[in-house]
Amino acid sequence: MAHVTTLAEAFEATLKDIYYAENAILKALPKIIDKAGAPALKQALESHRQETQGQVQHLEHVFQSIGVKPSGEKCKAIEGILAEGEEHMGHATQPALDAIIVASSQAVEHYEITRYGTLIAWADELGYRQASQMLQQVLQQEKSADQKLTALAEAQINDRAQGGAQGGRQMAAQGGQGGQTY
Ligand SMILES: [Fe+2]
Ligand SMILES: [Fe+2]
Repeated sequence: MAHVTTLAEAFEATLKDIYYAENAILKALPKIIDKAGAPALKQALESHRQETQGQVQHLEHVFQSIGVKPSGEKCKAIEGILAEGEEHMGHATQPALDAIIVASSQAVEHYEITRYGTLIAWADELGYRQASQMLQQVLQQEKSADQKLTALAEAQINDRAQGGAQGGRQMAAQGGQGGQTY
């Protein structure tokens, strides 16, 4: 990150970070969608891919709203999260692979959620009302995507990865799994 002195500069630098991250995610998603086995997971990821395309445009509008030319700044965090996800997926086969895909995707969603949370708080502090509103829309999409993944994991994917319905029933008898990350 470039050296920053003011909150406005910190906002700009973080916006560039998430802009880079969204583009990196957009590039990574088709490969992940390809690997997904469960049709519901494939569909959820595909619909979030389309949403992500819209988010990139949203971010360009946020840049415009503060009079800054849209550009990305390399985000080491998302590079690391995506690289680790790719590595984990490369070492997995079905039925565990879908569970790994959900886990890796949720790591991405949570990274996005933390960045948007910060950007919204800073936009509010800086009086960037339009930016705040646009970022809140994007944050909502990230939260929904995360919740959808949790629901899919708990409804079918973890159970299948565990070895089918019987494994799921055994876990339920032991008091359930305590819920997927969210
Ligand atoms: Fe996103
Ligand atoms: Fe996302």
